[in-house]
Amino acid sequence: MAPMQRLALRQARVPPRKAFPSEQRSDPMNDPARRIPITGRTRLYGVIADPIAQVRACEVFNPRFEALGVDAVLVPFHVHPGELPRALDGFRALANLGGVLVTIPHKEAVLDLVDEVGAHAQLIGAANIFRRESDGRLTAENFDGLGFVAGLRAHGHAPEGKRALLVGAGGAAKAIAFALAEARVGELVIANRTAAKAAALAERVRAAYPQVRITAGPIAPSGFHLVINGTSLGLQAGDALPFPLEAVDPGAVVADIIMKPARTALLAAAEARGLSAHYGRHMLDEQVPLMARFLRAFPVEG
Ligand SMILES: NC(=O)c1ccc[n+]([C@@H]2O[C@H](COP(=O)([O-])OP(=O)(O)OC[C@H]3O[C@@H](n4cnc5c(N)ncnc54)[C@H](OP(=O)(O)O)[C@@H]3O)[C@@H](O)[C@H]2O)c1
Repeated sequence: MAPMQRLALRQARVPPRKAFPSEQRSDPMNDPARRIPITGRTRLYGVIADPIAQVRACEVFNPRFEALGVDAVLVPFHVHPGELPRALDGFRALANLGGVLVTIPHKEAVLDLVDEVGAHAQLIGAANIFRRESDGRLTAENFDGLGFVAGLRAHGHAPEGKRALLVGAGGAAKAIAFALAEARVGELVIANRTAAKAAALAERVRAAYPQVRITAGPIAPSGFHLVINGTSLGLQAGDALPFPLEAVDPGAVVADIIMKPARTALLAAAEARGLSAHYGRHMLDEQVPLMARFLRAFPVEG
């Protein structure tokens, strides 16, 4: 048999190679749908968390970078709590890093590790973002509460003068309490499973905003214009509702801060009762322009 014939026969017998798993998945860093390819000029942003899989920041920021033609990408970094100091030192060393969003469980710990802390983060005692300055110093700030209030405004629920019940006294609720007071709600009642935490938070917010009526109270949602779930209840299927909906006034707004699922059992039940439901995603969506301005990541109006 001639050599060429032998080769053709051998090739015919070789089954086609199966694609490696990495070839089967779409590679998010080189997604063909991206109009702007990742190159040596691309500016980097990140989000740190532990666990990391539930973060939404990449889905929120990257399409906006694309839409605005900004050559930047935001990627998830899984950082265990014990590694936070080393991770921050690494971020200081990365000259093409613009900044990093910070989420659970790093929001408080990060304050002691950055070089500068903004006014809101200082007041709240936690940060949800830091920016890398050109000399490598890190400046932290917190936009959770401001984003929540901006979300209310964007959906026609301006909080000025309103009676608000905030259920929860954890990290997110703290930020919301300070922001509602800054927005001059008519009255703010803070209620929490661990009542002592609600009392301590009410005292701190009152000290910062003595002109606003702020108290700690029971989880009793009647008589309010705005009732907010600021707890983590609703994250897991089968979670109890954070407050009894039957007691909420007709015409009141029921707000949730849970983003996954987007339509929590609380919001579904509120809508079924004809109440106005305000979704958790608005809090992050409305933080984007605030964070973008802080990071100097892309042009924002105003
Ligand atoms: N939409 C957004 O942009 C945004 C931003 C930040 C956070 N979040 C979400 O907000 C949620 C809370 O985050 P966080 O940082 O505030 O958490 P956190 O600091 O751990 O606080 C959790 C809060 O939920 C309460 N809680 C937990 N389990 C409860 C239960 N079984 N019954 C009654 N109350 C319960 C806690 O009450 P105790 O004090 O009694 O333990 C506390 O008030 C998270 O799910 C997060 O995804 C959303």
